[in-house]
Amino acid sequence: MTSKVIAVAQQKGGAGKTSVAAHLATALVSAGKSVALVDVDPQESLTAWHSLRVDQHGDEAAFDFSTCEGWKAPAQIAQMRRNNDFVVIDTPPHAETAARQAVREADMVLVPLQLSPMDVWAMRETLDLVDREKTGFLLVLNRVPPRAKTADELRAQLKKEKLPVAKATLGNRVAFASSLMQGLGITEAARTSRAGQEMAALAKEIMKKA
Ligand SMILES: Nc1ncnc2c1ncn2[C@@H]1O[C@H](COP(=O)(O)OP(=O)(O)OP(=O)(O)O)[C@@H](O)[C@H]1O
Ligand SMILES: [Mg+2]
Repeated sequence: MTSKVIAVAQQKGGAGKTSVAAHLATALVSAGKSVALVDVDPQESLTAWHSLRVDQHGDEAAFDFSTCEGWKAPAQIAQMRRNNDFVVIDTPPHAETAARQAVREADMVLVPLQLSPMDVWAMRETLDLVDREKTGFLLVLNRVPPRAKTADELRAQLKKEKLPVAKATLGNRVAFASSLMQGLGITEAARTSRAGQEMAALAKEIMKKA
């Protein structure tokens, strides 16, 4: 099985890494893919979401899941690659060892980016960790408010720099958080909502690119 490892990374705290990892993983499952999830952030937010998911929806909703405790990156990821179409890794903010290792193991680094200069600066530092010869990357605009001219300007700027930006953008939508609170991803909780459509579109783009 040729599987793809996607690390969701962005050194800016609160950019949406954990949310994107959970929604993307479930959207890939909704699209018929087998997915493993890895949480290498000591905050363990993704792990908390996954525990809630299993509590609420039973073992059949469980992912092939690995937490950061005792994480042995290469060996564990190799194993997960063998059994799944995709391995999605949630990483901590800042260039901690775990984040660097995850980026090194990845075939694609997905970088959520909000409309702030701080996010853009941190994005550049994140991309410095990526070996661009070996690893693909994709930026995704997150928490975009409706009719945001800034989003169009940022997209144009990134394009000018030849940085790949996902066509799909994720709006600033409560549904992204509320579905996670039910242990679900948005494509499971509300597939036809705006948020659900945005995430399905992002997953589709990633399946095509990866
Ligand atoms: N598209 C969105 N719409 C609305 N809220 C969002 C969206 N994306 C993320 N959030 C909210 O932003 C906050 C930060 O998101 P999240 O925890 O996923 O970021 P993170 O990058 O993983 O943070 P950290 O760097 O601390 O790990 C959360 O409260 C989350 O619900
Ligand atoms: Mg996080």
